[in-house]
Amino acid sequence: MLEIKFEKQNRTLKAEPGENLRELAIKNKLSVYPHVLKIFNCRGRGLCSSCTVEILSGKVAPRNDIEQEKLAKKKNPNLRLACQLTVEDNLVVRTHV
Ligand code: FES
Repeated sequence: MLEIKFEKQNRTLKAEPGENLRELAIKNKLSVYPHVLKIFNCRGRGLCSSCTVEILSGKVAPRNDIEQEKLAKKKNPNLRLACQLTVEDNLVVRTHV
């Protein structure tokens, strides 16, 4: 069992390896979306970038093709799309970046 800490919310969620980060947050009533994007988002299809989070610590797989495209202009290499990320390590995550 992994521990995923959401820094801004000061909450730590238990996760199974391979769980999707966005779905984990939703399942635990924690939003990865800022403001009105809670309503207006692409529902995890990798189209809107509104689920962008920063991985503050922990190992993650390299960005997939969707993330490479959507986050290409972001200089911070630790930014990821929660909807495209599966958890494989204990993480500390910052939402609403
Ligand atoms: S929910 Fe739209 S890109 Fe992740």
